[in-house]
Amino acid sequence: MSSKPAKVIGGIVLGAGAAVGAGVGLIKGLHKAIQNNNSTMPLYGIICPMEEEMAPFLEAMDARQTSVISGLTFTEGSLCGQSVVLVQCGVGKVNAAVCAQALCSHFPIDALINVGVAGTTQADIHQGDLVASTDAVQHDFDVTVRGFAPGEIPDLPEWDFKASTALLDLAARAYELCKDDMDGAAFHVGRIASGDQFIAGGPRADAIHNTFDPAAVEMEGAAVAQAAALNDVPFLILRAISDNADADAPTLTYDEFLPLAIRHSFTLVCKMLTLIKENDKLSLG
Ligand code: ADE
Repeated sequence: MSSKPAKVIGGIVLGAGAAVGAGVGLIKGLHKAIQNNNSTMPLYGIICPMEEEMAPFLEAMDARQTSVISGLTFTEGSLCGQSVVLVQCGVGKVNAAVCAQALCSHFPIDALINVGVAGTTQADIHQGDLVASTDAVQHDFDVTVRGFAPGEIPDLPEWDFKASTALLDLAARAYELCKDDMDGAAFHVGRIASGDQFIAGGPRADAIHNTFDPAAVEMEGAAVAQAAALNDVPFLILRAISDNADADAPTLTYDEFLPLAIRHSFTLVCKMLTLIKENDKLSLG
């Protein structure tokens, strides 16, 4: 029997010398992460749910290496002057949580940014506008029949996960510098409500609006936020609005405004990264 301990990474047990399929890239990714630990350069994790949302980031990135962990492809490299790990998580909270945990476990990230599009139930927030998170809640987490508040997660100290104020400030500063390239889009700061549902008006949209008063609704942010909080990693959810989470959203407005929203979210994140000085870890509280 081998005396060397097996490694458990992303749910796969690797015995000594094991190198099977995705496991090869997976081990390389881990080595890279350990090397990065000694670097003074901050490392930013960027999670996009969909391929379209990630495309401009991947295109702009100077990619160094990729690793596959839990079936997800993590690309390390530099983007807008900073070291980043970029990954597409897929749609929904489980995909987002698995991805965020893999990122926290295998890469020494200093901060996590979840970027993409969202709907809104607010009358004064419009398509193309940007929303940066104050906090993020799961609107479909419901143990109210046992006396918990809507969205409250039993046995956790918090369930409205608070974003990093340093990253929020950075996003606001970045917006001021690039708003002329944003087709008149406004910048909002508010709550993100996430759930495994595309919100398309009706009683569900009303209930989410009345219960949580979110600035934006989407399907991943709160799961990324929870994983970040459990790993003590500062995070920000940044979403550009594609639709009004109403009856027109699934068939009309979402597809129409998706490219505009993606362009705005990319422009803002790139400006944020550009604003961070070399070796500046902000004070990511
Ligand atoms: N992402 C973009 N629009 C959305 C909506 N209306 N509901 C959930 N996620 C979304």
